[in-house]
Amino acid sequence: MGSSTGTFELAPPGAGEVLVTGAAGGLGSVAIAVLARLGHQVMASTGRSATHDYLRGLGAGAIIDRALLAKTPERPLDGERWAGAIDAVGGTTLATILTQLKYRASVAACGLAGGNDLPMTVIPFLLRGVNLLGIDSVMCPLPERLAAWERLVHDVPMDRLDAMTETVPLAALPDLADAILKGETRGRVVVDVNSG
Ligand SMILES: NC(=O)c1ccc[n+]([C@@H]2O[C@H](COP(=O)([O-])OP(=O)(O)OC[C@H]3O[C@@H](n4cnc5c(N)ncnc54)[C@H](OP(=O)(O)O)[C@@H]3O)[C@@H](O)[C@H]2O)c1
Repeated sequence: MGSSTGTFELAPPGAGEVLVTGAAGGLGSVAIAVLARLGHQVMASTGRSATHDYLRGLGAGAIIDRALLAKTPERPLDGERWAGAIDAVGGTTLATILTQLKYRASVAACGLAGGNDLPMTVIPFLLRGVNLLGIDSVMCPLPERLAAWERLVHDVPMDRLDAMTETVPLAALPDLADAILKGETRGRVVVDVNSG
């Protein structure tokens, strides 16, 4: 489904579960809040059980352990499960998603938190017509950015944005970097450059 900006609708609300991987991270948290706001049934994939209440608070209806998606797919096609997916993880997780997408469904490939390879076959594209949507926020043309920003004004629930945002002083940056590398941060972290 194209639009004048060249963007795609991931899936219409009511089409089934939409999967978000790297759910407790910054990208995943925003994706869950937006999808839930739009009326989607959201499945959040996380490796941290301590984040389950947080993810439900953002709008996730159900949670799946990320280890279940991270196994290398054993078959070119698996059962049809996802009406759409937002993937922050890549690697075997993205490969698994592609084997489990419903007929003609789409996954937005946003990140590589779990790896930058894609160990799969072309079978899901040929037999199910699934779509692998590349997401690039760096060189994205201005008209598409403007359309996206306008959507965010309406589609991001501000109370949930507050709930996923922590503000830290500049001096906390070294500790924060360690926490990011260890996968211990949650949601978005705003660094207040005006406070020491
Ligand atoms: N395409 C673009 O334009 C664009 C823009 C922004 C970001 N990105 C990319 O998107 C990804 C997510 O960004 P972010 O800002 O949300 O990062 P983040 O806040 O660090 O979140 C990443 C999340 O991925 C999960 N994760 C971490 N290591 C993993 C592993 N080894 N296997 C599986 N899951 C793992 C964790 O979620 P759980 O703890 O819930 O499991 C973690 O919270 C990054 O790769 C980033 O580079 C791309």
